[in-house]
Amino acid sequence: MRLNENYARLNESYLFSNIAARVRAYKEAHPKEDVVSLGIGDVTRPLTPAVICEMQAAAHDMAAEETFRGYGPEQGYSFLREGIVRHYAKKGVLLKEDEIFVGDGAKSDLGNMTELFGRSRVLLPDPVYPAYRDVNVMAGNRIAFAAGGKRNAFKPMPQGERRYDIIYICSPNNPTGAVYTREELKAWVDYARATGAVIFFDAAYEAFVKNGDLPTSIYEIEGARECAVEFCSFSKSAGFTGVRCGWTVLPFELAGGELNRMWLRRQTTKFNGVSYVVQRAAAGALGKQGEYENRKNVEYYMTNARVMHEALTAARIWHTGGVDSPYIWMQCPRGMTSWEYFDLLLEKAGVVGTPGVGFGRHGEGYFRLTAFGNAQKTARAITRLVEVTEEFSSRN
Ligand code: MLT
Repeated sequence: MRLNENYARLNESYLFSNIAARVRAYKEAHPKEDVVSLGIGDVTRPLTPAVICEMQAAAHDMAAEETFRGYGPEQGYSFLREGIVRHYAKKGVLLKEDEIFVGDGAKSDLGNMTELFGRSRVLLPDPVYPAYRDVNVMAGNRIAFAAGGKRNAFKPMPQGERRYDIIYICSPNNPTGAVYTREELKAWVDYARATGAVIFFDAAYEAFVKNGDLPTSIYEIEGARECAVEFCSFSKSAGFTGVRCGWTVLPFELAGGELNRMWLRRQTTKFNGVSYVVQRAAAGALGKQGEYENRKNVEYYMTNARVMHEALTAARIWHTGGVDSPYIWMQCPRGMTSWEYFDLLLEKAGVVGTPGVGFGRHGEGYFRLTAFGNAQKTARAITRLVEVTEEFSSRN
């Protein structure tokens, strides 16, 4: 039997599965302890009434012969793609319906899209959302990293004229919470056009940007239609982490429309589309009432981010993010690795976070906190985290 040997180059388990397994083992050993998660960015607010209403109506359609739906259009139903076109038009970005592909979430497409390029040279930021790295390892691609750190506010910029086939950018960033400005994104677009690269732009956290001067789509940048694919998701903005729906934009200017045609060919062969019920629910999230309700949920999470930011600031713990993004990126106490800090917090505070090194070498010494939690639990967790961190720092 001949297996894909690239899998042997992966870490033994995916970062978040590894953390979940450690937390499960800890809870089994300490069943009475109150463990609060500020770890994986999984939403906690339930689906909103506008979404549920559409979901129920769609379920009723499925119960009657006249309105029942079987296989849908692979690219997504028009009613949803029209909603996505309107969503972009509000930002001044004009898309055509056929440039949009509805899928089961940004993560799947961000990985599957590498298929269209064959063996590639790929540039990833470091720290980086681990799925980008792992899918490219699986594909046997040559990976280079652009280092993020305090020096560049965790926003690596293009260097020199090196040629890559694919450049991944996530803004607002998972895990650091950094958001590229228009000028910074323009520099990446110019670089990609000059060197013949395609940008994979992950906009999954666009709904969390409050500052109107910051771009929430790469297509707000001139020239991006010629060099960028954009991936977005209902997961975080509409609570769809368990429902599964997202979309990918492939402009017709990109490789003269070839990538759009190839992706359509790929999807029609390997994907049967997102279910009718879920697409109706997603369309509900993009309607006027749905948008209003989801904005309230985003505000709820961002209040958590503010509570954490204020507690860390009062304790003089260095951190960034959490303003136009649901993630806070903090520094571990002096001399501690991010896994040591993970263990300290779990054991002494009953708090789970994500060790920075899980996002790459340049994440060592940092720790990610998520705002996607229940407000009371988040407040409790950050108080305990600060107490344990201060106590540790005073002793060392
Ligand atoms: C995270 O915690 O980084 C995200 O929840 C992962 C994801 O969206 O797949």
